[in-house]
Amino acid sequence: MTISEQQGRAAARAGANFALVKYWGKADARLNVPAVGSISITLDALFTETEVELVPKLRSDELVLDGKRRDEDLEKISACVDLLRSKAGVDTRVRVTSRNNFPTASGFAALVRAAEAAFGLTLTSRERSIVARQGSGSAARSIFGGFVEMHAGSSPDGSDSFAEPLLESAAWPLEVVIAVTAKGEKEIGSRSGMTRSASSSPYYAAWVSGQPADLAAARAAIGARDFAALAGVAEHNCLKMHAAALAAHPPLVYWNGATVECLHAVRRLRAAGVPVFFTIDAGPQLKAVCAPGARAEVERALRAVPGVLDVLTSALGPGAELR
Ligand code: DP6
Repeated sequence: MTISEQQGRAAARAGANFALVKYWGKADARLNVPAVGSISITLDALFTETEVELVPKLRSDELVLDGKRRDEDLEKISACVDLLRSKAGVDTRVRVTSRNNFPTASGFAALVRAAEAAFGLTLTSRERSIVARQGSGSAARSIFGGFVEMHAGSSPDGSDSFAEPLLESAAWPLEVVIAVTAKGEKEIGSRSGMTRSASSSPYYAAWVSGQPADLAAARAAIGARDFAALAGVAEHNCLKMHAAALAAHPPLVYWNGATVECLHAVRRLRAAGVPVFFTIDAGPQLKAVCAPGARAEVERALRAVPGVLDVLTSALGPGAELR
């Protein structure tokens, strides 16, 4: 019997995902409904592994993340597990043991998959995505592998705000090179960064209203496996998100000098004919997305950028799976 088959205990793995068309801003903070749809790729080499164990004697949930008790993160975890507890009609507390090999919100995708099995539930992928979204918006996308689209939805209860697969990874095996330009926790997390951008950035409304066109362009580029078109829309969308954040008050500057040098290195490579584009999230790491075959050259170029501390690589990978 594998761990995932034992009643009351299950483990799952979910790959990190990076958005090519970004989620930035919320329509409903309580239900964690995004203000905009997004499109991402799920990775195989960067992931979270989570085990959930039902422990009847516990009075509250427990979280051990990368070997350390993390009581400060319990509220979000318990709120997400509560959704599954109520579906299962049980009140048992859980011990969650999670390991990330890269800081990522995909943890909630692994948590939902493992907790569902531990409670003996069978959810559809869409239901998993809706529950994971309430833990962290971007995690809703890591339920699926390859290329994924998250729908913002319009229903007040969030029931149409879920992710869906667009294209499987084998159909277009892009690769990713991550230039690590700083270590340690970021200063302003996505959640407060979004709130500040929405409430104070003069560019936030333009960011939101431009998103449907970017989603359509990225969807079409992925459907046609048109790398140049995907590169164009992804870089523009990333810089628009950062423009909205930079114009927030107080301003949000997620980049350091090495981030900007990496951005220029990627643009130089592309101008020289290497199929690569960048994306940057709410932090200083630059993610370079490469067409099949371009990874080694991109990795070499980014390693040579002053201020790059480490370089990680990954292929695209599957959605959240039981272990
Ligand atoms: C910049 O999913 O971390 O990475 O829903 O508040 O948990 P919450 O936010 P989160 O935001 C991700 C923001 C982003 C862009 C993206 O992944 O689409």
